[in-house]
Amino acid sequence: MKSSPWWKEATIYQIYPRSFFDSNGDGEGDLPGITSKLEYVKALGVDAIWLSPFYTSPNKDGGYDVADPRDVDPRFGNLADAKKMIDVAHSLGLRVLVDVVPNHFSDQHVWFQAALKAGRGSPERSRFHFYDAKPDGTPPNNWISLFGGPSWTQVEDGQFYLHLFDSSQPDLNWENPEIFIDYEKTLRFWLDFGVDGFRIDVAHGLVKEDIFKNHPDPQGLSDALRLDVIMDVEKRFALLETVPFFDRQGVHEIYRKWRKLFDSYGDREVMAVAEAWVHPPVNATRYVRPDELHQVFNFDLLDAPFDAAHLHDVISRTIELLANVDALPTWALSNHDSPRVASRLGELQSRALTIFVFGLPGSCYVYAGQELGLPDGVMPDGARQDPIYFRTKGSQKGRDGARVPLPWSDESAPFGFTSGTPWLPMQDSWKDLTVEKQNVDPKSSLNVYRNALELRAEHLVTTGEMTWLESPTHGSKNPLLLAYRRGNVSVYMNLGESLVEVEITGKVLIASAGVPDGRDGKITIPPVSTLWVHH
Ligand code: NOJ
Repeated sequence: MKSSPWWKEATIYQIYPRSFFDSNGDGEGDLPGITSKLEYVKALGVDAIWLSPFYTSPNKDGGYDVADPRDVDPRFGNLADAKKMIDVAHSLGLRVLVDVVPNHFSDQHVWFQAALKAGRGSPERSRFHFYDAKPDGTPPNNWISLFGGPSWTQVEDGQFYLHLFDSSQPDLNWENPEIFIDYEKTLRFWLDFGVDGFRIDVAHGLVKEDIFKNHPDPQGLSDALRLDVIMDVEKRFALLETVPFFDRQGVHEIYRKWRKLFDSYGDREVMAVAEAWVHPPVNATRYVRPDELHQVFNFDLLDAPFDAAHLHDVISRTIELLANVDALPTWALSNHDSPRVASRLGELQSRALTIFVFGLPGSCYVYAGQELGLPDGVMPDGARQDPIYFRTKGSQKGRDGARVPLPWSDESAPFGFTSGTPWLPMQDSWKDLTVEKQNVDPKSSLNVYRNALELRAEHLVTTGEMTWLESPTHGSKNPLLLAYRRGNVSVYMNLGESLVEVEITGKVLIASAGVPDGRDGKITIPPVSTLWVHH
């Protein structure tokens, strides 16, 4: 069944355009490439696609450095290609979400170039965070960029500008009303162009406070904000309470106004999802109050261990917190910024967890390639492109592993992705993971995803709340078993390496792996697998 509005319990497929499919042999994916594969996407059973940025960009940060938010970068095609992609998606019944990046522009945006020329104190500089150096010549504060290194870069006349990310991504000053007006133009441009909504990059970052104050532990704060830095949980949480540039109350004023704009499109059912890594988790619910955005990403599963008690805790807490604002959760196991779930947890584990999560209330995000069980790509340092790798002088490898192009066909790299040389190296060891191979194997990861999404739409979407049946914190004797019931379906996940027998009657709808065995009111669940049982 379809949920209403469409996004309430949607499955949304994230496409990283540069890595999806290359139509012109230049080694990079593009919009016509995406269009040519939309039938594949539709056949997965998803409701919508979300595209990472394809706008004019020098591509210092994979297109999240936008030089013109209302045009297409030639590496991806042109506006006519974007129109065609949207039209074909719509004709297949797929909605289209695009990324917007309101926290910063590229340093190649005309506004930033004008700001450089116009000099200190000018209206052009007031669109960004330009300030004089401190009397000792150092930057206005000691903040560290999320990509490593200082958050400030000095320009010729001695002023510094703020960039929470790469130096090529100057932060916009949202206190200047011109920024709101320009962004409204961008939102309207894409809505009038035909898109169905937006993923809002760094949605929690637009408003800054205490710009002239040093942070007592800038390196600690920067580490606390990075999931790949191991840190004591208490310490991390304490530091996260002190971020002066994220999750300030002022951001909500902006989203209240955006919501009015979205609602003015009436029955188009425009939606927006916030990328807001905030702490404590309850703060995330503010972004989805009834007069703000429609969804907020829940990132807790991106680094969750394959551990029943932990997963139970994250899932319960997420559902409860969002219920307080009458919103449903979002579930994501992978994206272009984090290690692929198959690498992080193992292929079987990741498949079991995905099928477990597909049954839950809310929307599910699937990162292209996740359906193939694709692991992270492995590459020599010389091939890396992520600014994190360069800004940390190689001490952090960055996110390229999760961005390697998809394997479509053939027995060796580039697996039909391109007729040229792929922009990141592809692994020959992926030969059994191609779409072509998995298409014909009924037990492949791809086919399990397809079946699960079809069954999700048929039996689970719109069936309301879930109740736990088994969890270590709910008195279950098996610490390796999690189960819940929703509607007429019970979902069991066996996290252990041995068979588990449960007393239950019903028809097995799907098993993420192995062959479950059912008789005499009992079903055995294969190791590391999830089962859906219909009553
Ligand atoms: C979050 C995006 O997902 C990431 O890829 C990007 O580097 C930063 N925001 C900065 O825009």
